[in-house]
Amino acid sequence: MKKAKLILDNNQTIELPIIEGTENEKAIDISTLRNETGYITLDPGYGNTGACMSDITFIDGETGILRYRGFPIEQVVENTNFTDLSHLLIYGDKKDDLMEFKKSLRQHAVIHEDMKRFFDGFPSNAHPMAILSSMVTALSSYHDDNDKTEEEKIDINIVRLLAKVKTIAAYSYRKSHGLPFIYPEPELGYVENFLHMMFADSQEDNHSDDIIVEALNLLLILHADHEQNCSTSTVRMVGSSQANIYATISAGISALWGPLHGGANQAVIEMLKMIHEDGGSYKKYIDLAKDKNSPFRLMGFGHRVYKNYDPRARVIKKMTEKVLKKLNIDDPLLDIAKELESVALSDEYFIKRGLYPNVDFYSGIIYRALGFPTNMFTVMFALGRLPGWIAHWREMMLNPKSRINRPRQIYTGLNKRDCK
Ligand code: SDX
Repeated sequence: MKKAKLILDNNQTIELPIIEGTENEKAIDISTLRNETGYITLDPGYGNTGACMSDITFIDGETGILRYRGFPIEQVVENTNFTDLSHLLIYGDKKDDLMEFKKSLRQHAVIHEDMKRFFDGFPSNAHPMAILSSMVTALSSYHDDNDKTEEEKIDINIVRLLAKVKTIAAYSYRKSHGLPFIYPEPELGYVENFLHMMFADSQEDNHSDDIIVEALNLLLILHADHEQNCSTSTVRMVGSSQANIYATISAGISALWGPLHGGANQAVIEMLKMIHEDGGSYKKYIDLAKDKNSPFRLMGFGHRVYKNYDPRARVIKKMTEKVLKKLNIDDPLLDIAKELESVALSDEYFIKRGLYPNVDFYSGIIYRALGFPTNMFTVMFALGRLPGWIAHWREMMLNPKSRINRPRQIYTGLNKRDCK
């Protein structure tokens, strides 16, 4: 076992084990540090801290690599669909129950009739992410499985979540548009069923176009997992207290909503619309993004891990052009996005900081073309990320060494004083 040697300010020396992953990533295991030295480490934002070891997803941020269970995402989007991919992320290569899994997803797509009344309580302008996180927590009130083993409980709740969250997402859209709910059709596949519940009665009856189903499958697959991102780390944090899976996933939904995370796909479109309404002068916004005195950031650009082009953005950009061409849509926001990208990628400020388009930069343009309103974009991200959150939760729950997550801190407040 390789070791790292740490010499402290009191000349105490400690050797710490070095852990190496299957892709040669290296970590210093500090799990004995405090017991042996009284010291802790400090890493605000966790940019240098590994929270766990995982077999699910591998990212190489320097070279722009993303693989699900070893498969490059460029091959995954060509050779599978979202439900098969969900099973792969959650259960790995275990395939014997895949058909049963997909049948079960169709059977469990309806939500309890009483849950429909929850929607009456939301104002019509409620953000669909507020509805989604509330309703997912509420699902825990409708399911108790005292007659099942622990593993049976985990599996049935995984199916219920994957099956019902898309129904809740569709209902949140219908509610916000004053439209009647459309029930899931048991014979339809995941994406087709979701599009059916969203748009089956719309005038443009193109929601079942092959290109729309193909594009949505691709988008959900590309959003499916991304190792220890903010929302997945939140799921692991909340799940580590052994809160039920519904409360745990609801916490992930809430973390994803932030504009620095999954909420960025909505923020990108709002930014592109603002630039368009401002005469398309993207140069002014590039300068604003570089200005330290301005809070403005180029949404959809930059990433904590990718210091190269986000491989997902490359695939989404190609699909965006294919969809707009197939649907004969000329979206000026795509032209602005492409201009922004080409100017930024040749600008020293962005090059020096490794700022490239991320998964959110083009995804909003394609969601618009598919007929989704802007406030549904982050819900679409959540639908895609759901199997990834579940896979990490299950990996943690089945790990006998898992314990409650409880980070330390360095106190910098007032010293002891008397309270009179
Ligand atoms: C997602 O973690 C994941 O894997 C997330 C995700 C997933 O699949 O789960 O990939 C999904 O969340 C993608 C990111 C979506 N968010 C955005 O597009 C929002 C815009 N991007 C930034 O806010 C930012 O780039 C973050 C939040 C994505 C990353 O922030 P970091 O890693 O904390 O980077 P930082 O803020 O420390 O920035 C480093 C430098 C700073 O400049 P200096 O202080 O060094 O001079 O880069 C600058 C920042 O000011 N910078 C930007 C910028 N992003 C970083 N400047 C202008 N525009 C930007 N978008």
